[in-house]
Amino acid sequence: MKFKKIISLITIFSLAIAIFAGCGTKSTSTDDNGEDNEKRIIIGFSQLGSESGWRTAETNSIKNIPNLDSNVDLKFSDGQQKQENQIKAIRSFIAQKVDLIVLDPVVETGWDSVLQEAKEEKIPVLIVDRNVKVADESLYTAFLGSDMEEEGKKAAKLIIDKFGKDANLNIVELQGTAGAGATVGRQKGFNETVKDCPNYKITKSQTGEFTRAKGKQVMGDFMKSDGDKINVLWSHNDDMAVGAVQAIEEAGKKPGKDIFIVSVDGIKDMFQLMADGKSNGIVECNPLLGPQILEIAKSIAAGKSVDKNIKSKESVFTQDQAKKELPNRKY
Ligand code: AHR
Repeated sequence: MKFKKIISLITIFSLAIAIFAGCGTKSTSTDDNGEDNEKRIIIGFSQLGSESGWRTAETNSIKNIPNLDSNVDLKFSDGQQKQENQIKAIRSFIAQKVDLIVLDPVVETGWDSVLQEAKEEKIPVLIVDRNVKVADESLYTAFLGSDMEEEGKKAAKLIIDKFGKDANLNIVELQGTAGAGATVGRQKGFNETVKDCPNYKITKSQTGEFTRAKGKQVMGDFMKSDGDKINVLWSHNDDMAVGAVQAIEEAGKKPGKDIFIVSVDGIKDMFQLMADGKSNGIVECNPLLGPQILEIAKSIAAGKSVDKNIKSKESVFTQDQAKKELPNRKY
């Protein structure tokens, strides 16, 4: 009798545990075989292209999301620097009814209609890296990325810290892709900061399209026309600056000494050049967005609200820090 009582007590206790355990698995669904599955999240990622080392690092970080969480699938599309390709990709993600669209936009404007289409289908959109300019901000759920204007300001401050506000400087500028948020923001932040420096002159400014080859070509042209007069190179990204360093050397000058160089990103190649004394300052722009995107995707899928503007963490590095920082660089 006593034994029977013990058995029934154990049974009741086990049942209670099973019920409580069931309460904790909210995000599961039951499949045709009666087995529980967690709900999968499908992300459609429209990348703008593959122009730089920074871009490769960002693509790899985002493509790695399914390895961080086996419940997430990622559909990838490379826009090859063309907005029309990105718009097509977004439409295809809408047709496939993905759970979240992640868009890294090549340019700032021209997204309103396609974002409206996503909104009508109730598909949330996360803008990453470069921001968009739209008439109605409810067309996207959130933005995750860098403050490009702040990066331009930081670049200008590196020059002011070195030369002081009253120096006489001829500055040449390598701009990024025309109309891109990274170009517009960085240029604005930089120009606003050097406004207070009466003798800083931007003597040449041209796009190097964020690529090494174009950066080298444009800097080569600057060296031919203005070589002896250039004091500073301000490059909107590292890859163009890497190309420019080659052009400066080919023109018989010493990069980092004859010409002070400041750029944005923080790729390993640029840190190496800085450790070798061939460049002077890097404003970091973080491309490793995959883990943050995963967290945001999970919050959205769980119906939680997310902040509208989420910033990535970034630093500034000078030549004396380059050797120490080089082994820590992940991209
Ligand atoms: O949008 C980020 C910028 O785009 C990076 O600074 C640049 O390297 C890239 O191509």
